Amino acid sequence: MNPMISVALPKGRLGESVYKIFDEIGYGCPEIMEEGRKLIFENAENRVSYFWAKPSDVAIYVEHGAADIGVAGLDILLEQQPDVFELLDLGLGKCRMAVAGKKDALRDTDRTLRVATKFPNIAKSYYAEQSREIEIIKLNGSIELAPIVKLSDVIVDIVETGKTLKENDLEVLETVCDISARLIVNKAAFRFKTEQIEQMCGKLRERIAKG
Ligand code: PRP
Repeated sequence: MNPMISVALPKGRLGESVYKIFDEIGYGCPEIMEEGRKLIFENAENRVSYFWAKPSDVAIYVEHGAADIGVAGLDILLEQQPDVFELLDLGLGKCRMAVAGKKDALRDTDRTLRVATKFPNIAKSYYAEQSREIEIIKLNGSIELAPIVKLSDVIVDIVETGKTLKENDLEVLETVCDISARLIVNKAAFRFKTEQIEQMCGKLRERIAKG
């Protein structure tokens, strides 16, 4: 019998869309969409199990082999640099990483720039490339607040619709990179379950190409 493949999905809308694709290509596990607090679901017939994890924790589960496969945003992969294989761009959860702030926030280039962010590593490497001196202020959420209350000059954060910035009189000043959800795989699992993982990945690729 084929080995089971365990999949870590990010809790929330993105994870639910990804599960629907898995379901369509033959890896369904109907119990997963039922209301409740259960965390792990298994369909022995389809040789697959799923669990929901906090989006920023998915790569940790996969790197440590607690899940064979996971779905994580490129933002999280760039920030955490987990030791995993990235097999596929799922083309979902599209947004961008941007520098944002008040219109003239970047005018004074002599001063150390104060950057508030949930993504200190991304911000550091972005400004290192520009040889710009910065001070990182690490926050955990509601990042847009920082330039409004003058905690920082700018933020480095995810922009999806741009609504949060607009409603707070902030704007995108620079784009750091485009973001989308990626399929990641544990390195050892890929070695031991190559055939099953490649088959799953091939079906996903085909389904995504159809749009
Ligand atoms: C994210 C991000 C922005 C917002 C952008 O926050 O940090 O605040 O979404 O979306 P928009 O461009 O569509 O307005 P999230 O909702 O994840 O919560 P957070 O503030 O806790 O980071």
